Amino acid sequence: MKEVVLGLLGLGNIGGGVWDLIREFGGETAKRTGVQLRVKKALVLDKRIHGGKEVPDEVLTTDRNDILEDPEIQIVCEFLGGEQPAAAWMLRALENGKSVVTANKMALSLHFDELRAMAKKTGAGLYYEASVGGAIPIINAIQSPLISNRIEQIMGIVNGTTNYILTRMAAEGAEYADVLKDAQRLGLAEPNPTADVEGFDAQYKLSILGSIGFHTRLHVDDVYREGITRINSEDISFGREMGYVLKLLAIGKDNGDSVEARVHPAFLPADHPLARVDGSLNAVYLYGHSFKDMMLEGRGAGDTPTASAIVGDIIQAAQNAVHPMPYMQETPKPVADDWHSKYFIRMKAKDAPGVLAEVTGKLAAESISVSAMMQKGAAPDGKATLIFITHRASEKAVQRAVKSLNPEICQVENVIRVEG
Ligand code: HSE
Repeated sequence: MKEVVLGLLGLGNIGGGVWDLIREFGGETAKRTGVQLRVKKALVLDKRIHGGKEVPDEVLTTDRNDILEDPEIQIVCEFLGGEQPAAAWMLRALENGKSVVTANKMALSLHFDELRAMAKKTGAGLYYEASVGGAIPIINAIQSPLISNRIEQIMGIVNGTTNYILTRMAAEGAEYADVLKDAQRLGLAEPNPTADVEGFDAQYKLSILGSIGFHTRLHVDDVYREGITRINSEDISFGREMGYVLKLLAIGKDNGDSVEARVHPAFLPADHPLARVDGSLNAVYLYGHSFKDMMLEGRGAGDTPTASAIVGDIIQAAQNAVHPMPYMQETPKPVADDWHSKYFIRMKAKDAPGVLAEVTGKLAAESISVSAMMQKGAAPDGKATLIFITHRASEKAVQRAVKSLNPEICQVENVIRVEG
């Protein structure tokens, strides 16, 4: 039996979950893999507070060097979250030849190049399965069984909080602010929800998925980002009447000479596999030239699902004689600043002659063709709601057309891309 000595940087929700999984299931895992895991040290802020976990006192430390500088520790698991000091400490561990396992999408996506370069230099491993999609083995799938593919499309629901909020808005006809408040009360959304609801979390995750899936470095800033805060119950219910389900999607496309990367709310046809991924579940839908299409679905957060991916990474790090390193082409592919999609445009207008002419005229001027239109009767203010669904059109052209509409005639309330 091979013993592998671990150091845990952090023993909070995820670190504690990993501690528990190793303690409760480590024996069985060892039988299956021949790898016995031993946690030598776990870094905590205060030794008196360690979440009620049964951790022997000699394992706890408040000094990171007891982990980063201990030659006996072979694998460092990082559970600090945030950019720094997580990135610096992972870099130090790699510099010291220790393999690193992390769930930290922010530190990883912002410092991917330095971390990969250091791992390459010292021959240490860098594993990050839990950084995207929690328990879903999407990173491994892309890097190993699907490696012999040109992945052309990645489309994911990679943020559980927003999927939970949108699912409840759809089921209850409720408004965003009310569902958010309730989700916070239930502990399903953070007290400061910005990272989730404004799409930052999904942006980091798409930067990682795109970098490894398209083999070109996709920086966080290359990913267009829009959150769910402007979505209201009318968007969702009118979309449903037209056969669509609304999701916050992370979309990456490899168009050959360039890539597309964007996070934003989008309608999907109700029969699309991602449309039925509800609640806080995550899923990633891929298209590769050889496997065609595939969807992986599961729990994207939480201590035990995340621990499942982390312990899987630890075992791989322990078993691999040579650590895998994703190939990325030297000169990154340019990231397209325009893309094509269909669009859902919701507006308010007087129910009067000339309104449709104004809208379709401005759309036509940008070569945008309408594929469906719906009008809902006059509201108490005498105005009707108009919904247009366009054929595929350029994003920039749609933005220009919407901007050119005469606000005296119609007021655009939301523009939502339609994918799938
Ligand atoms: N905050 C994330 C989510 C989980 O809501 O999915 C951690 O990546």
